[in-house]
Amino acid sequence: MTLDAESFRAEDGVADAAAPFYPVRARHDPADDFICCDPAMVAVVRRARQAAESGASVLISGESGTGKEVIARFIHNASRRAKAAFVALNCAAIPDHLLESELFGHERGAFSGAIGRRIGKLEAADGGTILLDEISEMDLRLQAKLLRAVQEREVDRVGGQRPMKVDIRILATTNKDLLSEVKKQTFREDLYFRLNVIPLHIPSLRQRPDDIPVLARYFLRKYDSRSAPRFRSFSDASIKAMLAYHWPGNVRELENAVNRAIVLATEDEIRRQCLDLFPPDGNGVRLAGHRAERPAASAGRPLWQIERDAIIDTLVMTGGNRTRAAEVLGISIRCLRNKLQLYASQGFAPPGPASRTD
Ligand SMILES: Nc1ncnc2c1ncn2[C@@H]1O[C@H](COP(=O)(O)OP(=O)(O)OP(=O)(O)O)[C@@H](O)[C@H]1O
Ligand SMILES: [Mg+2]
Repeated sequence: MTLDAESFRAEDGVADAAAPFYPVRARHDPADDFICCDPAMVAVVRRARQAAESGASVLISGESGTGKEVIARFIHNASRRAKAAFVALNCAAIPDHLLESELFGHERGAFSGAIGRRIGKLEAADGGTILLDEISEMDLRLQAKLLRAVQEREVDRVGGQRPMKVDIRILATTNKDLLSEVKKQTFREDLYFRLNVIPLHIPSLRQRPDDIPVLARYFLRKYDSRSAPRFRSFSDASIKAMLAYHWPGNVRELENAVNRAIVLATEDEIRRQCLDLFPPDGNGVRLAGHRAERPAASAGRPLWQIERDAIIDTLVMTGGNRTRAAEVLGISIRCLRNKLQLYASQGFAPPGPASRTD
């Protein structure tokens, strides 16, 4: 598979300082775009590319939302196995008693409920790559069975007669420090060393600030093109706000913030307040966190009142745009209109356009 490095110049004022940047693009599948320009991340991509060629196991670590799964797909696509299957299994999402048969498969009648033979994920990945997501969540008994499979490259179906050979490349991710799990004896040391042949740590978004405007613009194009493209750029104030924010949810949070801003924005340029990163007084505390820290403003109040406040607040946020407010609230425009008529009859006038603050 060929990887293509294209260079762009960022159009936003602040992002200009970081240009040019190099999104590394897997040509055959735009869903696998991996965008980066910060030197810290470019170094990780370089290492991922080397790892891809080697075929060795890679342990990808990093905070939630940093792009561990994206880089895992990138490694698969850049490897000799690119045309074969990429199979992902989230070890945290599946209860312990089901994980074994999910991984290894089972024969008919292996346990009550096993009505037919089932191929496990390790077998399904034969010839390709398996991604074991959140590996730290696997219980110790299963870790022992996985270790055998990794060492022997053999899969033993639950209730099976004899193991089968598989040709798989193993990638694993963790957002916990796996070595400290080893010290706590909740993760097997031998399995840790088997998986951690090439360690790849993805820095948090705040540790690679040059990526912030670049990724924001990428998501702007990605989501804006879903309908008729409306937005061209971010205001300087919104870029500054994004650079100052600490992004606890990393790239996933940035992606959501841009997506939300596209729904809320009323002009060609995305303004700071549409990103909803700071409370209106700008004291640097995130609005959502701010809300969570104080006692719930909705507690002990009638639902109709909470609903009315949510509708009016949203209209203020959208500058009085009812279509957009209905979209954000997840209700029909007709339902919104009916509610507003009711509020008007109770003496609440719908808000007018919001004043510009950036
Ligand atoms: N460099 C990047 N370029 C483009 N999109 C990215 C990049 N990094 C992350 N994303 C996007 O951010 C979101 C989160 O990425 P991903 O699922 O890979 O994170 P993760 O580290 O596996 O998170 P978790 O630990 O919660 O599973 C996805 O929608 C992904 O497409
Ligand atoms: Mg993940």
